[in-house]
Amino acid sequence: MSAPILRRLDALRATTRPWVRAGERIGVVPTMGALHDGHLSLVAAARAACDRVIVTIFVNPRQFNNAADLANYPRTEDEDARKLARFGVDALWVPDADQMYPAAFATTVSVAGLTDVMEGAYRPGHFDGVATVVTKLFVQTAATDAFFGEKDYQQLLVVRRLAADLDLGVTVHGCPTIRDIDGLALSSRNLLLSDRARTMAPRLHEEMEAVAQGLRAGQPFAALREAALTRLDKAGFTGTDYLDLRAQDDLAALEAPERPARLFAAAWLAGVRLIDNIAVD
Ligand code: PAF
Repeated sequence: MSAPILRRLDALRATTRPWVRAGERIGVVPTMGALHDGHLSLVAAARAACDRVIVTIFVNPRQFNNAADLANYPRTEDEDARKLARFGVDALWVPDADQMYPAAFATTVSVAGLTDVMEGAYRPGHFDGVATVVTKLFVQTAATDAFFGEKDYQQLLVVRRLAADLDLGVTVHGCPTIRDIDGLALSSRNLLLSDRARTMAPRLHEEMEAVAQGLRAGQPFAALREAALTRLDKAGFTGTDYLDLRAQDDLAALEAPERPARLFAAAWLAGVRLIDNIAVD
């Protein structure tokens, strides 16, 4: 059965009030729409763990540092609602813009430290936009639990930090990245890849796996990284913003996986920026 689509805060509050009174666990899956199997895996995890499930769809202008990226972001609300129908979602929160950012809106949530590197360095203001909207979504929906993909691992850590620092009482669950059969991490932005670029895109994950394998064999990260960057260039990628080895808990830069670590990459292919990360055991 299709979930009701709520666009105004008073309707959302009227819906959640009895759930809160009954002490139910409210699981929230924040999204910007263009839902794929990665999002649906988060919805399934929320459905399994919580009494109530709210999926939010809001293309948040404050986290885009590039106007063209915001304009081109895929918007597929009807299709999204259809995809969710089989999951027993209790409500879809698709706020009108003024419900999120009324004219006088003047507050920013900013998480220090974790946001200095990678996406934070390449997309100024991005994480302030994410932290602000996620805080609002948690408060608006009366979330007790929230579900985020490890695909955006840095975002997951930022959200965990803000939920703890602001005593929001929300347990933030990280769920594994879902990949296509050829290894490409599912992302709404994959819809923007041409057919040709789509065939080339899995190369990013392949090169990351090659670096991880080299690290496991004890080879030096700097040399592995250089070789992978050269191969990506030759394969038609038009620039790699970063290919970093970092600690899994605080994102400190590492030269070897001497503690639990992940490889992180962001690279450009035919005008589309792909990001990915994998654990290095
Ligand atoms: O990961 C996303 O889709 C967005 O950053 C989020 C968490 C929905 C906030 O707008």
